Order: sequence, then C-alpha cells, then structure tokens
Amino acid sequence: MKRIGEATSIAHPNIALAKYWGKRAQAGNVPAVPSLSVTLAGMSTTTEVVFDEHLDHDELVLNGVALAASARPHQRAVELLDRVRASARIKARARITSTNDFPTASGLASSASGFAALALAATRAAGLDLPPTEIADLARRSSASAARSVFGGFVELDGGEGASGEARPVAPATALDLRILVCVTTESAKTTSSTDGMALTQSTSPYWDAWLADAPRVHRTMRYALLAGDFARVGELAEHSALAMHACAMAAGVVYVTGATLAALAEVRAMRADGLSAFGTIDAGPHLKCIVRAADVAAARTRLAAVPGVLRTIEAAPGDGARLVETRSTAPRVAVTSEEARP
Ligand code: DP6
Repeated sequence: MKRIGEATSIAHPNIALAKYWGKRAQAGNVPAVPSLSVTLAGMSTTTEVVFDEHLDHDELVLNGVALAASARPHQRAVELLDRVRASARIKARARITSTNDFPTASGLASSASGFAALALAATRAAGLDLPPTEIADLARRSSASAARSVFGGFVELDGGEGASGEARPVAPATALDLRILVCVTTESAKTTSSTDGMALTQSTSPYWDAWLADAPRVHRTMRYALLAGDFARVGELAEHSALAMHACAMAAGVVYVTGATLAALAEVRAMRADGLSAFGTIDAGPHLKCIVRAADVAAARTRLAAVPGVLRTIEAAPGDGARLVETRSTAPRVAVTSEEARP
C-alpha cells in the first residue's frame, strides 16, 4: 500500500432560505439566481479521503456500502477527484469513505454536506492547501448548494448573469435566534433529483422568467433583513421563496410536495396566526422545514409532530462550516494560485 496522502473532514447540511433553482447556461455549475442559506449543526457528514498509488480506480463507500462505479454519486465524486488531481498534479486514485449521521435516502440535503466535506478532504489529502473560497468553488462544480456548506452561519451563493458563483459568509450563526425543524414525511428516496428538476423547470416552465426576475429581489431584501436582525421578515421571505420556486417547478410538472408537506405547511401558518414566529420552506423533496424562533421551538415541535403524515421531527440550529479533523499528506506540496486551482 503506498498512501500518498489522507485527510478526514466534517461538514453540515444547509437549508436555503432564499432558494437556488436553475443554472446559468455556461459551464461551471453557476446558479441562475443568488441564494442565501443557513448551515446547520446537529447533522453531519464525515468523509475520509485516501490517495493511494496502488489503487487502480477510485472507490466510494457511502454509509458502509461500496458504490458501483456506474452509480451517479460515484461518478460525481470521481469528477471532483479528477479536478483535484489536475490541480495537485497527481495521478493516484482515491478511496472515499463517507458517512452521514442523518438519513441520506430521504432527501435531507446530503449532497450539500457530502460535496463540501469531499472537496475539503480531497484537496488536503492531495497536498493542496486552498482558501475556503476555492474549496467552495470546487464543491459548487459538483453540487451548487454544497458551496454554501463550506461556511458556517448564514451564507450566500452568487448567481445570475455576470455572477462569479462565489459563496461567502454573510452573518454569523448568532445573527438570528433561529431553529429549523425538519418534518420527515417519508423515509424513502426522492424521485426527481434537484439537477433534473431544475433542468425541466428551466426548459419548460411558463413561469421561469418570473422566477428569474423575482429571486434576486428576494435574496437582496432577505440579506438586508438578516443583517438588521429582522426574524419575521427573513421568515416571510423564506416562505415566499420556497413557494415561488415550487410554483415555477410545478408548472413544469415537477412536483415534490405531498399531502403531508402541505398539511405541515398549513400547521405552520396556523401557528403563525396563533402568534408563534414560524415559517415554512421546502426543498426538492417532501419534507417541510419549519423556520422557528428558538423561544417557540418546543411548542412548534409538539404541534408539527401531531400533523398526520409527519413521521418525526429533527431539530437543528445554525452551525459551523466544513472543517478538517485529521490530515496527513506525503504528496509534494503544490503552491497554486487561485486561478490555477480552478479546473
Ligand atoms: C431546492 O445543489 O442539489 O435545495 O447543483 O444540481 O447539485 P445541483 O443542485 P443542488 O440544488 C439544491 C436546490 C434546493 C435549493 C437550495 O439549496 O438552494
């Protein structure tokens, strides 16, 4: 066994408050609109990458299961490794061992934490020491939302014509006293991936142009509200962003919500009518996520757990960005400029 470098990292999922949906035409997986998210503590992906000159192909073990080379997650991981190898000027194949401590199959944003953790561990294992912005750039090329998980707290990702696709922190985790309650409505995998769902939306939704016009305004207004510490305004805009995204997608036949999602959303709105500070958001899956002020989380949890179709709830608070837990590399250190690091 000739290990040339290894590193282990941890990253957390994030939930977009202002949604990314759709891509710009050019290469690089740059979003069509800017987005703003909160990175979550309490759910993690831990990823170990070992570059080994004696391996003849890349291996990916996800949650204890070795994936076939033809599996899409395996292919996406290899694409990221190829970019890292090109920057580090190494040829060795790698073994990736990645574990989520939350249910991967149920569409709880595991690609965001997964690619953020992989980008960090793979670059370090290959002997590269890149700044977080470059790690985020690498993660974005695999899955755009992953760029935001590189940073902690509230994070934005640039998108739209002329945008760089750069992710950057906007405010620390303490900026809003917020909790997220994930209402799990199924334990099975989603049917349409975000990538496929957004491609279909972009090519066939009659509301695509309306989404492109509205999303940057929502992002901008939310940013101001966040920096002003205005919880209610951030919450209102988050609910609006999710509903606008889903309305646009639904008009293209892309439906992620189920009866249970809508029942949970109705309960969130009923809580608001009763004076609780709670708002709903939905990603490319059927789980309703409730954005709630920390003071109201216990009451909200009790009410959401009683909604028919909600199997259980997971509570998360704003958390940290991706970090290394272990690193050892014998690969020759390669000094790379920001430009060179872009594959
Ligand atoms: C609804 O980042 O999974 O969660 O870049 O094609 O991998 P790809 O898409 P992905 O899309 C996330 C979509 C979303 C909204 C968001 O996280 O902003």
